[in-house]
Amino acid sequence: MNQVIERDQLIKKWIYAAAAIIKESFNDKLDIERKSNRNDLVTNMDKTIEKQFIEKIHQFFPGEHILGEEGFGDDINHLDGVVWIIDPIDGTLNFIKQQSDFAIMIAIYENGKGQLGYIYDVMQDKLYSAQVGKGAYCNDVLLPIIEDKPLKEGLVAISSALMSKEEGLARTVGRASSGVRLIGSAGIETAHVASGRLIGYLAAYLAPWDIAAGKVIAEEVGLVYTKLNGEKIDLLQKNPTLVAPPTAHKEISALLKTGKK
Ligand code: IPD
Ligand code: CA
Ligand code: CA
Repeated sequence: MNQVIERDQLIKKWIYAAAAIIKESFNDKLDIERKSNRNDLVTNMDKTIEKQFIEKIHQFFPGEHILGEEGFGDDINHLDGVVWIIDPIDGTLNFIKQQSDFAIMIAIYENGKGQLGYIYDVMQDKLYSAQVGKGAYCNDVLLPIIEDKPLKEGLVAISSALMSKEEGLARTVGRASSGVRLIGSAGIETAHVASGRLIGYLAAYLAPWDIAAGKVIAEEVGLVYTKLNGEKIDLLQKNPTLVAPPTAHKEISALLKTGKK
């Protein structure tokens, strides 16, 4: 992919500018709309931020495809060429109800392969980023390759949808670990696995924009990021997902296969 350094600098600049706009909005009344159900919400901020990113991408990289959660990008049915994948606010429910634990996420894929990934935990001021083959960083400090620990030695995060849909399986995995943590932002949870704070993250059905940036970052530190059944992620669909170091990934997959409750 061309202009990688320029892209990296621009994306970081756009993300920090977007975060400033989000934080400035905290005293304003949010416009909140319901999408597929009462817990699937979108605010005026999600839309504003996505539109701003798209405007910038069009300005600097005309002709490149954009897949955005709020639908202001392109209708994408293939991953040929350069595709930007954007989640303007990951953890919208947290943003609305807690004003914390939400992230801005941007990724660039080329012919289906992750090239750049960014997850900005806005309230912690932590920007996780990665370029394929060049390692992953948190605020420009290189993240070490993850230690390949067994499941019993770490805390595991499980999405709330997976908890309610497959509570037996979620409990089984939880029991085999040191404990369960729920944050409510796929991006932040993946970043915590990548930085060694969590041993794994499991989710029931993540959309491409929930996965794209985290997958680039996760793979750069040696994590395995697949569907829950171990198959390859399909970035044109929703996927049940599992990200963990190789040993814990194998252990969790085995527990899920046996279906022990
Ligand atoms: C959601 C969050 C949540 C995950 C959901 C996602 P959104 O993203 O990442 O943690 O469990 O599946 O949809 O809608 O807040 O961007
Ligand atoms: Ca999301
Ligand atoms: Ca979102």
